[in-house]
Amino acid sequence: MPEALKPALNEDFGLTVVAWQRRHGRHTLPWQNTRDPYRVWLSEIMLQQTQVTTVLGYYERFLSRWPGIADLAAATLDEVLAEWAGLGYYSRARNLHACARAVATLHGGSFPRTAAGLQTLPGIGRSTAAAIAAFCFGERVAILDGNVKRVLGRVLAFDGDLASSAAERQLWDHATALLPSRDVDRYTQGLMDLGATVCTARSPDCGRCPVQSMCRASQHGEPTRWPVKTRKLKRGRRENWWLWIEGPAGQVLLQQRPPTGVWAGLWTLPMFDDESLARAALPGANLEPLPRIEHALTHFDWVLHTLRAQSCGDAAPAGRWVAREQLADYALPAPLKKLIEQH
Ligand code: ADE
Repeated sequence: MPEALKPALNEDFGLTVVAWQRRHGRHTLPWQNTRDPYRVWLSEIMLQQTQVTTVLGYYERFLSRWPGIADLAAATLDEVLAEWAGLGYYSRARNLHACARAVATLHGGSFPRTAAGLQTLPGIGRSTAAAIAAFCFGERVAILDGNVKRVLGRVLAFDGDLASSAAERQLWDHATALLPSRDVDRYTQGLMDLGATVCTARSPDCGRCPVQSMCRASQHGEPTRWPVKTRKLKRGRRENWWLWIEGPAGQVLLQQRPPTGVWAGLWTLPMFDDESLARAALPGANLEPLPRIEHALTHFDWVLHTLRAQSCGDAAPAGRWVAREQLADYALPAPLKKLIEQH
């Protein structure tokens, strides 16, 4: 590694993170204390972009319904999407299902045992592959998820702009150089725990940080200046109208979203681009406007208006009538689930 890339840190960093994890890290999360790659993989996919507290219930439900990879591979995509509904970022659920099938058909039902092998599977990127390989097989390999970018970006006061892939590659090199010679599983969990509980995005608690004395950002006095990422998402705004059409027995008319795009494959109320199109779909119906919903997605803010019709005669748009008790079998996006529960 070129001299300029060498972090001004030594083995002490890893040893300190490991010792801190032992005393102060998290040890009782349901995906810990196991080396079963199915359980670890499932947790790592769910934990991408999602908080631990949100994941817990989903994780338990998935495991009780599909205790092993073969069970998940035998499920249909619609069943997996329905169980995933509300967790968001639904491509994760599609990849989860594709990955289970790939392990079943291409790998004889067992996950590959190296990060390089794991990374060939759908939905498993470099960092997730490394986490699974470190936790399950003790491989000495670095992770670099969002939390770890923040921790290492600060410790090193890494000035590269993480919007650039060259800078990201450099940080990967640093992450690899910092790996301790042993206990990589505990070290990996320690970095995750530090990022989640101490070195948080907006208010890092440097007083509680075991590596404060080694942290250049903290010494600088302004830790949140790192990591550097310039590219700002230009957020858009979208507006749509939902028609909530109820049948005489309280059934709801649902339509399945197309296989690509936002909420791909999920079920929603019939959706329209403007109010007049929505009204034209049920001419003469008495439509009751419900409070609007504001839903933030990665790239845009979505304003969803709902018009409810208690019944619609024969004029209903195409779709599937679903009884209220059956709704749990359908993959509904979180805001729609909430809307239906509230009304
Ligand atoms: N986020 C990603 N992986 C995690 C793990 N193993 N424990 C807690 N949070 C995580």
